[in-house]
Amino acid sequence: MSDSPETSIGRRDLLATALGAAIAGPLSAAEGQPQPRVLITGASRGIGLEFAKRYAERGWQVVATCRTPSTATALNELAASRSNIVVERLDVVDHATVDALAARLSGQPIDVLLNNAGIGGGGENQLFGKLRYDVYPEVMKVNAEGPIKVCEAFLAHVAASRQKKMITVSSSQGSIGSVTMPMLYWYRSSKSAVNMIMYNLALQLKNRSIIVGLVTPGATDTDFMVGLPKKMLRPVAEAVTDMMREIDRFDLATTGRFLGYRGDVLPW
Ligand SMILES: NC(=O)c1ccc[n+]([C@@H]2O[C@H](COP(=O)([O-])OP(=O)(O)OC[C@H]3O[C@@H](n4cnc5c(N)ncnc54)[C@H](OP(=O)(O)O)[C@@H]3O)[C@@H](O)[C@H]2O)c1
Repeated sequence: MSDSPETSIGRRDLLATALGAAIAGPLSAAEGQPQPRVLITGASRGIGLEFAKRYAERGWQVVATCRTPSTATALNELAASRSNIVVERLDVVDHATVDALAARLSGQPIDVLLNNAGIGGGGENQLFGKLRYDVYPEVMKVNAEGPIKVCEAFLAHVAASRQKKMITVSSSQGSIGSVTMPMLYWYRSSKSAVNMIMYNLALQLKNRSIIVGLVTPGATDTDFMVGLPKKMLRPVAEAVTDMMREIDRFDLATTGRFLGYRGDVLPW
């Protein structure tokens, strides 16, 4: 049964009254439901910026977070062209900024919490025999500790949403069962660590109907891979299309999985 315009407006008013218009966000005409909201970390460039663009194009409410909004030119330009993107400051290693944003967004449901921010640590800093031990804590903090802190801080927001998903962008480099050549000691182990952390979280939150997932982009053409020949890299739009498809597919039956970009289950 299709709604008359009057019925739709009536429902919209009721929902806005019940939830608060600012909290509910715009309604999708098709379903009479608030549009889903995604919060993305590391949205200033690369994969995170593309996620922000693509979820906004879908009509979702996008909270695009980055370390330094004042210098995030590409993200600010994107946000200026779309009314459904807000740019917020969040540094995943600065717990005060994480807690501050969680408090400020209190009462706003987050359907997909997307831990995307990550660093490689520099290949030259991770050569056996010349390992730079000062680099390791930072890589672990950004890639492994940061995502779980973000999940802890935004638990109530995700629990209050319809989709209830906490997704982390991992890497096949963190798959102990897949790698063959020795390299990237710090980066690889940080992604293996975040895999275990998120698997643990999936076990923790399943009985609250919260879905936790790990996705991977494949070798993708961003600053992260600067210097590698382009022909070895996937366009960022393709990588994000693949990950968004897998994020859509995640449900309670698949919570805790570590997925390749074709939807294949990767070995831990
Ligand atoms: N590109 C690939 O081939 C590839 C492959 C497998 C997995 N991944 C993963 O995909 C994710 C995104 O990578 P990318 O290729 O888009 O890399 P990128 O182009 O280097 O972008 C990294 C993003 O993370 C942000 N970031 C770094 N430290 C942060 C912190 N402490 N707090 C908040 N944000 C922080 C950066 O912000 P600033 O602009 O402030 O530096 C930037 O927005 C990472 O988790 C990476 O490990 C990438």
